[in-house]
Amino acid sequence: MNPRKNSEYMSPLPPTQNNPAVLIDSLRVNRGATKVFTDLNLVIPRGNITGVLGPSGSGKTTLLRAIVGVQRIQGGTVSVLGQPAGNAALRHRIGYATQEASVYPDLTVIQNLHYFAHILNVSRTDVDRVIEAVDLQGQIHQGVSSLSGGQRSRVSLAVAMLGNPDLLVLDEPTVGLDPVLRADLWNLFRELASNGTTLIISSHVMDEAMRCDHLLLLRNGCLVAQTTPAGLLTETEQDNPEDAFLALIRREER
Ligand SMILES: Nc1ncnc2c1ncn2[C@@H]1O[C@H](COP(=O)(O)OP(=O)(O)O)[C@@H](O)[C@H]1O
Ligand SMILES: [Mg+2]
Repeated sequence: MNPRKNSEYMSPLPPTQNNPAVLIDSLRVNRGATKVFTDLNLVIPRGNITGVLGPSGSGKTTLLRAIVGVQRIQGGTVSVLGQPAGNAALRHRIGYATQEASVYPDLTVIQNLHYFAHILNVSRTDVDRVIEAVDLQGQIHQGVSSLSGGQRSRVSLAVAMLGNPDLLVLDEPTVGLDPVLRADLWNLFRELASNGTTLIISSHVMDEAMRCDHLLLLRNGCLVAQTTPAGLLTETEQDNPEDAFLALIRREER
């Protein structure tokens, strides 16, 4: 499958984006025996929300890992905030919340945050800020193992937000959350973006596409489209992102 086949759905970036947050050129990644990416090319603009959408197994986590600099790559380049991905200079500029909660289950919420704040050399006042942002003030002394799945993922999100990084990379942060919490989190993401943070958020739930500013649609390790929510709907003449995604795939298969 040619990943550039859908180039007609690749909206040009606005002129302010000649200094993008992420620039990926000819990326090749194998994981085990799986060739996840054979030639991935994309651009992620700064200061807004980019959604990485696609079904399970499409390569979302691998893409985010490559951006954060924790994925071994076989070829190509990944540049993040003007530096090669994984560069030490980026360590404090990127916050990453993995798909599985990456906090210590046997510590309380506040103990986890103090621990990571210490590692990152971030002040304790910042701990209060992130706990409030994810609305976990009522659970700070609760052990993480006793939290609900949604609360646990919010602890991971709070850790990722420590130090107010320029780029937040969040892997399926809203999975398994009820609609109210999901909406609250998207409001938080929007607030962070309006304060200048770049957010890269993956989801396999297509309706979350409409919450983003910029979209990367992945399928089988190929970029099906690089567009905007409005662009996706008009280009496919559909009225919801789920049908739009299906329409793109059908077109590609033709
Ligand atoms: N450690 C691994 N070993 C072998 N294959 C893997 C490994 N991790 C992921 N994969 C494969 O790589 C592909 C992309 O996976 P992933 O990036 O996790 O997708 P997504 O996050 O969209 O579900 C899938 O086919 C998956 O099975
Ligand atoms: Mg994943």
